[in-house]
Amino acid sequence: MASKTTISVIKCDVGSLAGHHTVPSPLLKIGEKRLREAQKKGLVNSHYVFHAGDDLELLMVHNQGEDNPEIHKLAWNTFEESAKKASVLKLYGAGQDILKTAFSGNVRGMGPGVAEMEIEERKSDPIVVFAADKTEPGAFNYPLFRIFADPTNTAGLVIDPDLAEGFKFEVLDVIENKKVVLKCPEEMYELIALIGTPSRYVVSHVWRARDDLVCAATSTTRLSLIAGKYVGKDDPVSIVRAQHGLPALGEILAPFMHSYLVEGWMRGSHWGPLMPVGLKDSKCTAFDGPPRIVALGFQVANGKISSDGGTPLISDLFDDPAFDLARREALEMAVTLRRMGEFEPARLSAESMEYTTLPKILEKLKDRFEPISIATKIPLLSTH
Ligand code: 13P
Ligand code: 13P
Ligand code: MG
Ligand code: MG
Repeated sequence: MASKTTISVIKCDVGSLAGHHTVPSPLLKIGEKRLREAQKKGLVNSHYVFHAGDDLELLMVHNQGEDNPEIHKLAWNTFEESAKKASVLKLYGAGQDILKTAFSGNVRGMGPGVAEMEIEERKSDPIVVFAADKTEPGAFNYPLFRIFADPTNTAGLVIDPDLAEGFKFEVLDVIENKKVVLKCPEEMYELIALIGTPSRYVVSHVWRARDDLVCAATSTTRLSLIAGKYVGKDDPVSIVRAQHGLPALGEILAPFMHSYLVEGWMRGSHWGPLMPVGLKDSKCTAFDGPPRIVALGFQVANGKISSDGGTPLISDLFDDPAFDLARREALEMAVTLRRMGEFEPARLSAESMEYTTLPKILEKLKDRFEPISIATKIPLLSTH
């Protein structure tokens, strides 16, 4: 049997230039140097270093399998070296997502985000990697639902017999640490009932129902749950496989023809429109946003990213006028929301905010609150 190929995307906010907006070149260079060395040693076969806003993203293609300690160590050491450099440069939030120090073989639960997928290569295997900044892993729920379950998005669900049996979604409950698998189309309503609450229920994997072929894997870290306090949003990544019995590349990108609202943005505490952008615009500026997403398309071939003389062939998928309307919509939604200042629903609800002064305000005002007189009390409704 042919050896399997693993695609790993491991990411970390190691520090950013001028606030939380971008990863400057010295940190990208460290990523490139470390992964090139690992490639020379044969640990990884191909790599690509990029950034989504202020998050350093390491894309690695290799034969070591998922959760491989060597691959995770490589990412961890790269992030540690980059964080050190960020400290020297006095970049903002140096080492932000390095929440724990004692590495023991896997970066999960330590701060960095991970999406990994081990595949048996098909005759041709097109892959899309998504990376977002200023939002949380549940931000992928809506597009993954549209791609793999919504026949108004994915024509193949209706007209390609190879997709007709539908897809299975693994949903994580990130609060109670449990998971459930739901099959679409049969359990579509149950799926939407859960993943419509993206802060709690997160799609972590999707498989094709007829043969359990893996077709999507998403990072599911909730940094605030690891750290017990706000330390930045999770800024998730996702790997999606395309074509030949799976949604076509264009069906995978179609949900991004419109912007949609996600939690995150300024101080992780606001609803914001997700804006699809090319790598050149992968930086968060206005009100630390709007939250952005980049998408890279490539082919996996014989354990590597298809390349031209050693240079990986990567397509910057959102660097395209086809997404201008979505960008325009995102900006219009952004100004509408910002006009509301700190009033819900522009601001997240009190329970979902990453930080709040409310308890302090209530404490300060506690002696000034007065009981309401009988006359002004709102009468209780009759319960019959
Ligand atoms: P990051 O999670 O991208 O670091 O953003 C932090 C923040 O508070 C932005 O306003
Ligand atoms: P600081 O208190 O670290 O400035 O946090 C605010 C923030 O990160 C929003 O950009
Ligand atoms: Mg940051
Ligand atoms: Mg970030």
